Amino acid sequence: MPAILFVLTSAAKTFTGAPAGWYLPEAAHPYYVLAPHATIDFASPAGPNPPISEGSVKMFESDPECVKFLADETVKSKLASAKKLSEVNAKAERLRCCLLRRRPWARHRFGCRPGQHQTCIRGKKYSVSILNVPFDDHAQFYQAGKITAAVCHGPAALVGATDAEGKSIFAGKNATGFSNAEETQIDTVKDVPFLLEDKIGSLGGKYEKAADPWAPHVVVDGNLYTGQNPASSAPIGEAVLKGLKL
Ligand SMILES: *[C@@H]1O[C@H](CO)[C@@H](O)[C@H](O)[C@H]1NC(C)=O
Repeated sequence: MPAILFVLTSAAKTFTGAPAGWYLPEAAHPYYVLAPHATIDFASPAGPNPPISEGSVKMFESDPECVKFLADETVKSKLASAKKLSEVNAKAERLRCCLLRRRPWARHRFGCRPGQHQTCIRGKKYSVSILNVPFDDHAQFYQAGKITAAVCHGPAALVGATDAEGKSIFAGKNATGFSNAEETQIDTVKDVPFLLEDKIGSLGGKYEKAADPWAPHVVVDGNLYTGQNPASSAPIGEAVLKGLKL
């Protein structure tokens, strides 16, 4: 059984000071898709017990998998022993897939700010989450042909990643991510440093989205896997499962 590492954000606030944290369904849904097929661990930039988005806990209080995830003793123990991302990065050569989540705006040296985000990378040993790590690392995973998957605002963590020729990994690729309409509807345009839909387009990507806001949409192009919004959380887990041929 392969091992997967989910890495969650350590940022409890956005750069405007709004509450943030990792977004519950974007961890819980892919977790239960992948858990029967892999050993899953967690990581975050700061290590143990990454902060959860309380808003997401409230929003998904009737979602069976989210409820189960919060009460799951195995999950609790994995969160309590979440590895520091810097320790995971040292093993990057063993990773094969990366799954990023919502609101990756991090106050890190590339000027992006993470709020809520989660990532998973799957390799011989792990799947991990990568927020707050240098984009060079994303590029390294991607260039090695590993599945690089991101959902919701997660693709924002990849906007600086390049392919072997130095081009954006979005250039010429079909991709998705949180849409301008969705960002506008929840009044968070002011809380993000750029709109993902516009950014993917400006990097030469072909941005796609579901016909209606909030509907699930997943795009797989080569080893770049992207999901549009929270509803795309389970679908991106399924896409990763398929891509890994588990
Ligand atoms: C990208 O989108 C175009 C148009 O929608 C489609 O024809 C093409 O097959 C897609 N490429 C991949 C790799 O999905």
